[in-house]
Amino acid sequence: MTGSALIRALVAALGPTTVLVDEAIPPRNLKDWSTLGPETPLCVVRPTDTEGVATTMRLCSEHGVAVVPQGGLTGLCGGGRPIGGAVALSLEKMTGVEEIDPAAATMTVKSGTPLQVVQEAAAAADFFIPLDLGARGSCAIGGNLSTNAGGNRVIRYGMAREMVLGLEVVMPDGTIIRNLNKMIKNNAGYDLKHLFIGSEGTLGIITRAVLRLSPRPGCTMAALCALEDYSKVLDLLSAARRGLGPLLSAFEVMWPDYWDTVIAMPGVRNPIAGKHGAYVLVEAQGTDEAIDAPRFQAWLEQQAEAGILADAAVSQSLADVRAFWGVRDACSEFPQVLGPHEPFDIGLPVARMDDYVRSCLAALRARFPSIIALFYGHIGDGNIHIVACVPGESPQPKDEIVNIVYDQVRQFGGTISAEHGIGLTKKPFLSFVRSPEELALMQRLKDALDPQHLLNPGKVL
Ligand code: FAD
Ligand code: LAC
Ligand code: ZN
Repeated sequence: MTGSALIRALVAALGPTTVLVDEAIPPRNLKDWSTLGPETPLCVVRPTDTEGVATTMRLCSEHGVAVVPQGGLTGLCGGGRPIGGAVALSLEKMTGVEEIDPAAATMTVKSGTPLQVVQEAAAAADFFIPLDLGARGSCAIGGNLSTNAGGNRVIRYGMAREMVLGLEVVMPDGTIIRNLNKMIKNNAGYDLKHLFIGSEGTLGIITRAVLRLSPRPGCTMAALCALEDYSKVLDLLSAARRGLGPLLSAFEVMWPDYWDTVIAMPGVRNPIAGKHGAYVLVEAQGTDEAIDAPRFQAWLEQQAEAGILADAAVSQSLADVRAFWGVRDACSEFPQVLGPHEPFDIGLPVARMDDYVRSCLAALRARFPSIIALFYGHIGDGNIHIVACVPGESPQPKDEIVNIVYDQVRQFGGTISAEHGIGLTKKPFLSFVRSPEELALMQRLKDALDPQHLLNPGKVL
């Protein structure tokens, strides 16, 4: 029995408290945030250090047993969901900020550390980790890097990839690749870290990262804006890029159905009167409140005078900024509010987003007249989210919904994943947006780095 022999070897090497079997397997390790149901792994291994991860991989390689890396399990496409008969390797015991280097402006952190802990440690040292997403309290930095997470501030700071200077990675055979580089400029050969960032645990296991810190913003201003239609949203986006320049840190758009749903939720504050064609959360981060807050206010007034804004509420305090973000972050409650639904993170040319929304909605409604489809997202980055469900249907007709949404994406020249990744749920559609040559090259990389196909087999490719 390969499985029980491996479990004996893992327990002998790592101890019984690190290797959890049968009833000791925590329910949280059975699934991620995707709509896929739970799956029981052979065992859950929770190493406390890199050597423990390396030992796990070496033993799994010797026994030919597959491994599914797990971070905070907030992924939305099944990447961290266990595979029956495979080991679930959770990084949850590998937490902690190891070093903050003020001169280099770097943080060295263990990969199981929750994003919020990373953010708070940076703030305590008067720095800033720009990566931010609704799952901040639960997701882990290793999961963020493995999915190349996007989130709320990509428009200014880029995706997770831009914030990484060095990585420590355990390869499928247990080899440790230690490249905790702190230098911004380092062109000595291939930049190997980029192979692992965004590869969703299919090429190596990230155990440590050196993150690039930004200066802590001196002030943050936000406005919730109501606009007549999407053409005005595009006007506001270009005005924000030109008028706020490097201060612009978020530009999040919400279509009316999304807005109406979230403002009806308990605890969500609605500062806008009446109904409008589009809603935008604009955020700017500056260095000096005395200069930047009036500048932000003046910029908003210009947009109102120019007829771009129908209405707007501007933050007077950090509490207001947080309340405005509450409208946008309320989507994390959709599982409770909508019940089972399919989430999407498509990418599209920014100018065509509203045409897509209309066309996609028409196609969805033609098939399911009572469908709920809410559109919102990081429009400044060309990334729109959709959540869709047909009330009262159980199970949800998710294959049909997914086919309609992705068929439209193909017609509009977009991507099926702007930020959440492919995992399991989007794998059948990867060929919609990647050429046969690209897919073949991805497969060659997988074969070269993981010749036994041990890491997350069947995910992504
Ligand atoms: P997991 O779900 O545990 O794993 C994700 C993938 O990475 C899996 O394939 C797993 O095998 C692999 N993996 C995990 N850790 C490692 C490791 N150390 N080494 C190698 N592989 C590993 N995503 C965005 O991009 N932007 C958003 O704005 C955003 N908002 C969200 C809001 C909510 C409310 C929720 C629930 C999710 C959101 N997400 C968002 C999706 C999700 O939070 C991100 O994908 C996040 O980066 C996943 O991190 P995690 O630690 O939970 O990873
Ligand atoms: C968001 C997640 C779903 O942006 O990516 O809310
Ligand atoms: Zn998002």
